[in-house]
Amino acid sequence: MAKLIGCVGTSHIPAIGGAIHKGLQQEPYWKPFFDGFPPVHAWLAQKRPDVAVIFYNDHGLNFFLDKMPTFAIGAAAQYNNADEGWGIPTLPPFQGEVDLSWHIVNALIDKDFDVVTCQEMLVDHSCTLPLKLLWPQGPCPVTVVPICINTVQFPLPKASRVYALGKAVGEAIASWDSSKTVAVIGSGGLSHQLDGERAGHINKEFDLQFLESLNSNPEWATQFSIHELVEKAGTQGIELLMWLAMRAALTSGPQPGVRKVHSNYHIPISNTATGLLALEKTGT
Ligand SMILES: [Fe+2]
Repeated sequence: MAKLIGCVGTSHIPAIGGAIHKGLQQEPYWKPFFDGFPPVHAWLAQKRPDVAVIFYNDHGLNFFLDKMPTFAIGAAAQYNNADEGWGIPTLPPFQGEVDLSWHIVNALIDKDFDVVTCQEMLVDHSCTLPLKLLWPQGPCPVTVVPICINTVQFPLPKASRVYALGKAVGEAIASWDSSKTVAVIGSGGLSHQLDGERAGHINKEFDLQFLESLNSNPEWATQFSIHELVEKAGTQGIELLMWLAMRAALTSGPQPGVRKVHSNYHIPISNTATGLLALEKTGT
């Protein structure tokens, strides 16, 4: 069976793409953010996952407000990057892991998650930037399974439902008949709000509590309603749901322990609190 090695959560602010393109990683503004990644690079180089399952949110590229699935899973052989116009250079297409996509789809439907399946799927910066941050050199070495969770248009899925989804995805990965190794990525957040009276809202205390909960008490955030989470993290900070799904995926199996590899937190980039967290799955 396939082996799930662990997870990495990271922010995906569009400007990161521009900073990578212009080589600004060591500029004072960007250095505290990019300096978080080398320990995670070293861990990934040691573990060498074959596949990345990515929980992310589309920002109006593949799904717009007229058609907004709550959960959508890519089942394509290739994913083209076509961002929505922030001047970020697009990246070469990413190769899909079709067999795992359909295995996850079948497993989720069997567990009463009525997901949308996408055999064509454009992916935006939310899906592509984590891959470039985690494997900055050369072509992307992993195949991908993108899983899109709606955090753009209400009604949003409850945190508890997202957690259940992530757990089911983790169980599907663990039951995939393959010798490949899999990493799970959560893309989004942390606290930020781009519009309205609270534009610029950042909640460091909540972010740090959330990061700690992912390490030690992964169901912690499921106690809150979506509106409570938006109040704490901001209207775009609700992207933290991706991190929750990612962490839930690691709870599969009889010994669902984790070891923290590395974490980083820095405010602000743009007007967003940026986070990074890598956890290794233990006991398998
Ligand atoms: Fe976003």
